Amino acid sequence: MTLSQHILQQKLNRQFRFRQSADSSNELAKSWLLDGAAEGAVVVVDEQRKGRGRHGRSWHTPPGAALALSVILKPAAADVAFVNMVGALSVFDLVRQIGCQGASIKWPNDVQIRGKKVSGILAENIWERTKLIGVVLGIGVNVRVDFRDTDLADTAISLEDITPRRHDRAELLCQLLDHIDSWYRAAPADIFASWKSRLSTLGKRIYLAGTPAVALDVTSAGALIVKCESGEVREVNAGDVFEIGSRGSGQ
Ligand code: BTN
Repeated sequence: MTLSQHILQQKLNRQFRFRQSADSSNELAKSWLLDGAAEGAVVVVDEQRKGRGRHGRSWHTPPGAALALSVILKPAAADVAFVNMVGALSVFDLVRQIGCQGASIKWPNDVQIRGKKVSGILAENIWERTKLIGVVLGIGVNVRVDFRDTDLADTAISLEDITPRRHDRAELLCQLLDHIDSWYRAAPADIFASWKSRLSTLGKRIYLAGTPAVALDVTSAGALIVKCESGEVREVNAGDVFEIGSRGSGQ
């Protein structure tokens, strides 16, 4: 079943906006948030023309092949770090629910299967001066994106590369939103402990901005604690971690 306004109207019991094609679901969700969207409202886009990834990268969302959604959340400012964890845990649960084994979370929030990325998350905090208006939790899931013969072939994977059957994206969307609702209601300590226990990065040798280090731990704010070759222990809040021996960090 294909994604459409009609299908989502039947399936989603929440405010939503659907676009067959748009630049980015996060952009649409941001303006909707500023126009007063309620918490839990979701923007779903079938094809993103300018899908956005972390660190200014782009995110490939061809028509009919992926999930691209942005959920509007309004956490307390002190809890924004948990939103990323909620996103990653929800995708992790979805992947497990449909029978994919061997999923893990690469710090901070990439869900990987067999070391290849199946989902990426871009959570954007929207502030008005010092007041947090809300968070746009953008999630991309590769459902049947064909990465063969692309430069992402070694680093990205789709759900249907793993499971033998075809997935109904509207069904996957509902399952994912259910997981988001339940993790978002969970206690922060449980969110953190579950996220930490699913991280593949801890204990690994990594490159951080080209420098070798070992990933030691994470803080409850989601930062990575690394030990550099010099012996210096540092807290990393953003930045691309490349696990030594892994295939990298493509979509
Ligand atoms: C990453 O670089 O890993 C984050 C990718 C986030 C992609 C999603 S798709 C839905 C939402 N809209 C966007 O433009 N980006 C996010």
